[in-house]
Amino acid sequence: MSNATTFPVIILGAGAAGLFCAGELGRRGVPSLVLDHAAKPAEKVRISGGGRCNFTNLHTAPDRFLSENPHFAKSALARYTPSDFLTVLARHRIGWHEKTLGQLFCDEKSPRIIRMLLDDLEAGGGTLKLAVSVSDIAREADGFRVETSEGVYRTRALVVATGGLSIPKMGATGFAYDLAERFGHRIVKPRPALVPFVFTGTEKENFAALAGVSTSVRASAGGARFDEAMLFTHRGLSGPAILQASSYWREGEEIRIDLFAGRAPDWRVEKRDRPRTPTAALLDDLAPKRLADHLMTLDPAPTAARLADVPDKTLDRFAAALSDWRLKPAGTEGWRTAEVTAGGLDTGDLSSKTMESRHAPGLYFIGECVDVTGWLGGYNFQWAWASAFAAAEALARHR
Ligand code: FDA
Repeated sequence: MSNATTFPVIILGAGAAGLFCAGELGRRGVPSLVLDHAAKPAEKVRISGGGRCNFTNLHTAPDRFLSENPHFAKSALARYTPSDFLTVLARHRIGWHEKTLGQLFCDEKSPRIIRMLLDDLEAGGGTLKLAVSVSDIAREADGFRVETSEGVYRTRALVVATGGLSIPKMGATGFAYDLAERFGHRIVKPRPALVPFVFTGTEKENFAALAGVSTSVRASAGGARFDEAMLFTHRGLSGPAILQASSYWREGEEIRIDLFAGRAPDWRVEKRDRPRTPTAALLDDLAPKRLADHLMTLDPAPTAARLADVPDKTLDRFAAALSDWRLKPAGTEGWRTAEVTAGGLDTGDLSSKTMESRHAPGLYFIGECVDVTGWLGGYNFQWAWASAFAAAEALARHR
């Protein structure tokens, strides 16, 4: 036997899921070794929620997660809820507030959450090693052998928490997928999600001219629809409604925008009550001026100067066009800006109770690398906590 150092559990990836798993293991008396190739832990926690970490969502429910198997996340989400995470924050005296739509944010800056995760890791006797690259993992009779730039480690249980492919600049790699495939796992093709759309040609030019304008819309794609803000950018469309829709969108498909967000005006009544109103004022209450001006140049927009002179049919056609604006994005901004990765480890190869591999006992996958992707608004961290908790509980029980 080599002179490898042995740990009861080794966790690969010091992100949200990996660090939380280490803390939960420590609380159950199981010290772990956490390895990460990055120089700093939990960089995505640091930049999350505009710097204040939107760490969970009060409306967490399985139907707010995408997966080839919509039932997979149910067990872990039911056993670790947003209020469970709030008790962790209370233990650390960390203040929080609800912003909107059940989204909970830290009162302090997000590094406070990282400190909490690191404190729990340390309190539980865990060891964190950063800037370590893992060169090989081999199965042994009673566990795994992990070869790294810092030496060789042995363990009975290996937890993979190396995340997905979004934001490669921050150290994202396909490590989890490659390792899983070696052990016979199937991978649901990863694709960028919660990501802005890009457009080409005239649409790109029009949107670039409106860059910075934000308006409330209903955005639909792939059968899902979201009532939130949309933002015009120099390359296309972004904002919460668009990011949400992007997770459901597939290459080549249309997206649909309802610029009235389900509250279409009755312009025939307006015309009857205020016939002398300039037609250009139609959109005054509905869209910011720059956007309204642009929309009034679109093909079905009425050209007559006063409402009284616009045929009812033209008003109806214009309202219908704006409530069902159909656009075909050229693509998305891709991995560079995607907040998360949709797809990943096929859940059919994992236990939904423990996150353990069905092919390699002792091997666990948690967090974003699994084919479970949350909506925007704290859901993805809740999945990181819940899947990490499921694995930690199982590991502590079977030790
Ligand atoms: P995560 O990516 O956090 O951690 C993986 C770790 O593994 C990293 O530390 C990485 O360095 C390491 N690693 C990767 N490859 C490795 C290798 N080969 N060897 C060793 N280590 C390796 N979610 C949410 O719920 N609320 C929010 O407010 C936000 N905000 C947000 C903003 C932005 C800009 C982004 C990009 C993302 C968010 N998210 C979010 C999503 C959230 O950050 C994400 O879902 C979780 O961080 C996923 O946690 P994981 O631990 O699974 O992966």
